[in-house]
Amino acid sequence: MFSTAFLDLPALQGASGTVTLPGSKSISNRVLLLAALCQGTTVVHDLLDSDDTRVMLNALRQLGCGVEVAGTTVTITGLGGQLKHQDAIAFFMGNAGTAMRPLTAALAVLGGDFTLSGVPRMHERPIGDLVDALRALGCSIDYLGHDGFPPLHIGPPSLKVDAPIQVRGDVSSQFLTALLMALPLAAKEQDIVIEVVGELISKPYIDITLNLLARFGIAVQREGWQRFTLPAGSRYQSPGTIHVEADASSASYFIALGAIATGDGIRIQGVGADSIQGDIRFMDAAAQMGATITSGPNWLAIQRGAWPLKGITLDCNHIPDAAMTLGVMALYADKPTTLRNIASWRVKETDRIVAMATECRKLGATVEEGPDWITVHPLQQGQWKAASIHTYDDHRVAMCFSLAAFNADQIPVRLEDPKCVAKTFPDYFEALFSVAHARPQDIPVICIDGPTASGKGTLASRVAAALGYHYLDSGALYRVTAYAALQAGLTLEAVDEARIADLARTLPVRFEGDTVWLGQADVSDAIRTEQAGMNASKVSVLPAVRTALVALQHSFQRLPGLLADGRDMGTVIFPDAPLKVFLTASAAQRAERRHKQLISKGISTTLDSLRADLEARDARDSSRSVAPLKAAQEAYQLDNSLLSIEASVDQVLTWWQAKQPF
Ligand code: C5P
Repeated sequence: MFSTAFLDLPALQGASGTVTLPGSKSISNRVLLLAALCQGTTVVHDLLDSDDTRVMLNALRQLGCGVEVAGTTVTITGLGGQLKHQDAIAFFMGNAGTAMRPLTAALAVLGGDFTLSGVPRMHERPIGDLVDALRALGCSIDYLGHDGFPPLHIGPPSLKVDAPIQVRGDVSSQFLTALLMALPLAAKEQDIVIEVVGELISKPYIDITLNLLARFGIAVQREGWQRFTLPAGSRYQSPGTIHVEADASSASYFIALGAIATGDGIRIQGVGADSIQGDIRFMDAAAQMGATITSGPNWLAIQRGAWPLKGITLDCNHIPDAAMTLGVMALYADKPTTLRNIASWRVKETDRIVAMATECRKLGATVEEGPDWITVHPLQQGQWKAASIHTYDDHRVAMCFSLAAFNADQIPVRLEDPKCVAKTFPDYFEALFSVAHARPQDIPVICIDGPTASGKGTLASRVAAALGYHYLDSGALYRVTAYAALQAGLTLEAVDEARIADLARTLPVRFEGDTVWLGQADVSDAIRTEQAGMNASKVSVLPAVRTALVALQHSFQRLPGLLADGRDMGTVIFPDAPLKVFLTASAAQRAERRHKQLISKGISTTLDSLRADLEARDARDSSRSVAPLKAAQEAYQLDNSLLSIEASVDQVLTWWQAKQPF
């Protein structure tokens, strides 16, 4: 997951490959609650691991349900319609509407002493229509802040279910879903009837609810979309095991990707055209805009068809979430695209009509908007603008706008707060980067070269963490090479040059956080000693060894970018890097830092011997015939003798920012 302040997407060119999508948020949270309300144990496979499901799982634990998590399989032991204890419980629902609404209804019907609150945005998301319906049913619910909005307090109910229960259907279909899932708890002796007042929006989500209720033993009778009857004697029954489909709304970004990007096409694993999720109908809209889509059981394959895409006008009531993706596809169309009947966008994680309009305009597009519609005009080559996209703590805004990186002007796109995708798809960007391609010259590399113990490693890895970039510690490659050579019984001298180079060419080295693996062996500590540094310095003067390591070093240049530290990153390995830093510190300072480091690891040495070692290595590194240690001509010099690490990081980030178009 990217938890950086922003993520810069380089201009992307094409895409090909397979993505496996995480489980559907809507299905995951419904299944969790249904399993909690059952008697007995339900094993849930392929559950989405996200902020919203974590909110729900926490709430279920607080209620006394058994919750066992093993990867994406979660075993829930239900309450059987009875609360285990009657203590007051305070639930924190974050910004998870799919947890807040159904839990409110279930808890109100069960009765107890509960408070439900969330993040500030949750306290702006309406819940009044659901509360009105529950109050009419005899539930005890009070508003703790503003009328009509969370936070709420729930007390014990005195249920009366003889008259039909009315609920508005035109603000959020989650209200009806919440009632449908809570009322089986009350349908003991008589039928319970729910009547929808006004036009029901987002009907496909009700279909998901009905489908899952049926899996849990509740056969709802439906008359049109107006009247729903829960038959007397309804009782939740666990299906034992249930699989969660991949999220069809998440699929929309990869369907759009396949439609926009050149390449061999995209295959999506985990959801097919026969999905129970309404958002799967996004594929029809994408096909109308030009995508070529085929499907089988649990998979979709997408290829670019018409290009440019075709602008369309579409009633999006049936695909409210996925429709946002059409808004960004519209930028690549031949004429304007109008998305109609999207009033629900205004009460989602953010006002999505405002968000889409504002951010598309930042990219240079003309956008018109009304109370429940938006028109997005396409952008031609030469019209795209570099933009820093605000994401409003809305996962879908972030995922949609990542698709702007395919723009015809090859301009990078900055996404603010990329971690907001965690709501439904924590590894969205990893999935995107696993299939998207960029031209090598568009994948940024920042080089930090300098002498031994100048602090390159710390600086480079901190800057990498701040930007969400990969990190190459090239010194470690020389250290591992020397280590492997000694293990193989070779000397580190010119006589063994060819054999060391052979080893280096196929070095089975892997970096995992701070751990360095050579094949199956963890060599992290072995390569960090002073002696290992000296040995590295010896093999690094051998030209054939340096050449053998070039391809391996280049392979670290991957999306979204790279921080590379060493001696010749800017001069030899990445000569076209857009930012090069030459980091120095006085020999006295470097010796002192290294001394502290070693002492803290319990290794005893003297300052004088360390300084002598450093100077010997500097002399060898600077005087060797190939790739000697020296600053690239255009490198920024940074002497950090007197700077804190934070100040050095800020300096590099400031230089980097000055080169960005945002
Ligand atoms: O940076 P570090 O101390 O881990 O590097 C170990 C040795 O590897 C250096 O002293 C240098 O001789 C060699 N090296 C190199 N080129 C690089 C990185 C390291 O020659 N890019």
